Amino acid sequence: MKKIIDRFCETKKLNKEELKALLNISEEDREYLSERAREISVSVFGRRIYLRGLIEISCYCKNDCYYCGIRRSNNNAERYRLTPEQIMQCADNGYELGFRTFVLQGGEDSWYTDDIICSIVYDIKKKYKDCAVTLSLGEKSYESYKRYFESGADRYLLRHETADNEHYAKLHPAEMSLDNRKQCLYNLKEIGYQVGCGIMVGSPWQSVDTIFEDLKFMSDLQPHMIGIGPFIHHKDTPFADCENGSIHTTLVLLSILRIMFPKVLLPATTALGTADPMGREKGILAGANVLMPNLSPVSVRKKYSLYDNKICTGEEAAECRGCLERRIQSIGYEVDRGRGDYPDFKRS
Ligand code: SAM
Ligand code: FES
Repeated sequence: MKKIIDRFCETKKLNKEELKALLNISEEDREYLSERAREISVSVFGRRIYLRGLIEISCYCKNDCYYCGIRRSNNNAERYRLTPEQIMQCADNGYELGFRTFVLQGGEDSWYTDDIICSIVYDIKKKYKDCAVTLSLGEKSYESYKRYFESGADRYLLRHETADNEHYAKLHPAEMSLDNRKQCLYNLKEIGYQVGCGIMVGSPWQSVDTIFEDLKFMSDLQPHMIGIGPFIHHKDTPFADCENGSIHTTLVLLSILRIMFPKVLLPATTALGTADPMGREKGILAGANVLMPNLSPVSVRKKYSLYDNKICTGEEAAECRGCLERRIQSIGYEVDRGRGDYPDFKRS
């Protein structure tokens, strides 16, 4: 196994057999893979972790993805949306706490017209000139993405979820299309964003074949960010009885991605922290270099419920910033206080 890993580190390429072997790796060999991936992240970023302040702006969504707790058909979901003023308050609070990137994420909620999104982005960027704004608001037209960019947005996260057509069709209703999702990602790149794609690890029907397709798609797209975390079922979705994704496989994939894409911005996600209390620390040690603590008002956090038992939603989590800083220090890393752009990225 070490031979496969060493060769992979040299060539940065995996065939399907090698991928299969890595996905079935023993815990001992995974430690070695992790070490090799970590060497790379430390050589590019040092022992420094970027923080992003996550503001979950709305849990209204017009989509009906089978895995997601805020899908439109979930009548048990308690819906909320933040006003532009509330979003600015979250950013104010985040700036005070030292965040220099704000991620505005939400369901696809048409209450936020393009004019409203542009003015929120514009106002944050005007007030906090040393900050980056990342959007994660789903699939929009080329023109809308362009308007957000021109208002000052820097980055956009849109997980492709799976690059395999058949798999995509099993996770989403027929009105959603993988081709459109991929096109959105290429559009975002062309416009000039730092772009993030990604998948859930262990989503129902995922296989070595579909993951192989994901890696091929990522090699083609060359994203600046890749978001992966375990699939975790939500009790009020059609996938309520499906098994959760494994931490082991998530860690293996984080290392594979770090080795294939040395400079990529790679978060250890909240889903990973939910699946394992030490998940985010393990993610960093497997090659991740970003954490995204929650900046949403505590009163709405439980309502942004994508999956069961999400962490950082109780009163005790009013201050994830300090908690994460201590966690990072406990494994010998420190928080980087900059914006944390993709290395050498120049905005056009
Ligand atoms: N609406 C935007 C979009 O579609 O990109 C952003 C919000 S969406 C809820 C954010 C991500 O949550 C999705 O891309 C998906 O990968 C992840 N997610 C949704 N349900 C999940 C689940 N049950 N387990 C783990 N991750 C999940
Ligand atoms: Fe939220 Fe620890 S990161 S409480």
